[in-house]
Amino acid sequence: MTRDWRAWHEGYDDPGSGLAWRLAAVRGHVAEALDRRAGPVRVLSVCAGDGRDVLGVLADRPDAARVSATLVELDPVLGDRARAAAAATDADVTVLTADAGDPATYAGLPPADLLLLCGIFGNVSPADIEHTITAAPALCGPGATVLWTRGRGRGFDDLDADVRRWFGAAGFVETAHETLDEGHHPTVGAVRLDVEPPATLPTLPALPALPALPPDRRLFTFR
Ligand SMILES: C[S@@+](CC[C@H](N)C(=O)[O-])C[C@H]1O[C@@H](n2cnc3c(N)ncnc32)[C@H](O)[C@@H]1O
Repeated sequence: MTRDWRAWHEGYDDPGSGLAWRLAAVRGHVAEALDRRAGPVRVLSVCAGDGRDVLGVLADRPDAARVSATLVELDPVLGDRARAAAAATDADVTVLTADAGDPATYAGLPPADLLLLCGIFGNVSPADIEHTITAAPALCGPGATVLWTRGRGRGFDDLDADVRRWFGAAGFVETAHETLDEGHHPTVGAVRLDVEPPATLPTLPALPALPALPPDRRLFTFR
């Protein structure tokens, strides 16, 4: 672990913080993605932390039972917090205490309709950001939404233009790009894989498991 990520989560407790703004924005996009898609929805959150973005939305939704979610988080305490929060929802949630940078972690998972890459891009190299974005379609089903975040302040380079270009090159269309010029200057981005979802939603459960990502390169390494 490169940082105390449990302490990092305490930033959410200040309702005036950039983190609180970011959480509200991400939750809004999670809710929108669920509203847009009828039938079963599969969610994958990479480096999920305590999962409060996805789980906070699911806790309030009467249709949460149509959602199955996989949260990948390395810290076991944060993972346990996510499991406890998941128990308060009707969704089918699995929390994997696993290394999200290892391609093998994703073997056998179903393609995601909603993929969260939140809280990652500020902690890894630009090369790893680009590689993760390039690999993202392999984690997604047709028409999937991907949410991403990155801070642009407090010593971070503003890489938003690069991130947006990399998503475009990987086949995604941008649907939102929201910024706050306070605190750590967070950005919340939403993109959609530019492939229409299958017309017959009932076939979704039969979708094959994800193809294996190239095993020879990690997606990212926190620095
Ligand atoms: C900045 S936090 C973001 C948490 C959550 N996505 C959010 O936005 O609230 C980064 C998270 O990544 C987790 N993490 C770091 N390296 C990881 C890895 N290799 N695999 C899985 N999780 C990791 C940390 O434990 C931490 O919870």
